[in-house]
Amino acid sequence: MAVPAGVPSPWQASASGKVILFGEHAVVYGQPALAVPVAQVQATATITPQAAASTPEGLETAIWIEASDLQRRYRLSDAGPNDPLAAAVRLTLAKYKSSGRTAPPASLAVRVSSTIPISSGMGSGAAVCTATIRALSSFLGLPLADAEISALVYETEKLLHGTPSGIDNTVIAFGRPVYFVRGQAPLPFQAGAPFTLVIGDTGISKPTRLVVGDVREAYQRDPALYSALFDAIGQVVRRAYALIESGKPEELGPLMNENHVLLQEIGVSCKELDTLVTSALQAGALGAKLSGGGRGGNMIALVLPSQAAHVAAALQASGAKRTIVTEVK
Ligand code: PMV
Repeated sequence: MAVPAGVPSPWQASASGKVILFGEHAVVYGQPALAVPVAQVQATATITPQAAASTPEGLETAIWIEASDLQRRYRLSDAGPNDPLAAAVRLTLAKYKSSGRTAPPASLAVRVSSTIPISSGMGSGAAVCTATIRALSSFLGLPLADAEISALVYETEKLLHGTPSGIDNTVIAFGRPVYFVRGQAPLPFQAGAPFTLVIGDTGISKPTRLVVGDVREAYQRDPALYSALFDAIGQVVRRAYALIESGKPEELGPLMNENHVLLQEIGVSCKELDTLVTSALQAGALGAKLSGGGRGGNMIALVLPSQAAHVAAALQASGAKRTIVTEVK
């Protein structure tokens, strides 16, 4: 089993983390949302051909998955159907087979690592799967377009999140800011003028699936109230998008504050997130809100570049376990 000709070995690909700028939760109910990549944290996948092995049991036994951060190493054939990483590999192999290629790849190691915090709203699962699919498809000589990768990662996201809106796989696979409406073609965009965010991590990991499930129950108990809250968030997102596109990001602050209050009303904030949001505003941030699923994970603050270090220090003093400064462009 030969490594495809012309393919350097090992083969590597990376994918950035992400934050949601506006519109989380409401996006599950058809409202728009805005998300941006965060290049300071990355997932990386490396495909390394192993010494050719004869594998009468089939291809899956010839593929090893190694997730060093999780201290896991296992054969693809031993992975269950709900393992997102294994699903990423299987979906890529299925694409390869459906392209009519018959020569099987060599025995492989798929090694993944990530600096993206887990279960904290920064898209770690989607990024690891994006990097894996990108690296493996390129290795197989069948590089996939961003939209194809996004569609495959969406399938893996379903295993983690149940009913994901699709925003994580989209922003991460495209690696660009996106205006996203569930079920519609995503709109990657460029900010009219760059702006700076400080991201503060509560250190509390909260699976998005649980929070999305709680919101679903609350919505079913009081659909009128929750529909009104989702509509109000949708209005905020549209106004924010107009400001970002027209190069007036410094005016986004009040919209972030408004979005945070709406998320509090939906019931997805928590004491630690509220403390960090207040701390950022007191330290001079132009606006701040929780980002992602909530009840833990991260918050974001819009700052002037000259204020970034000061706001980051204030967040740490208020309990942030880590801060990241990133520029959106
Ligand atoms: O993966 P997170 O925690 O950034 O959350 C995704 C955003 C939600 O709107 C809460 C869920 C979804 O599928 O869009």
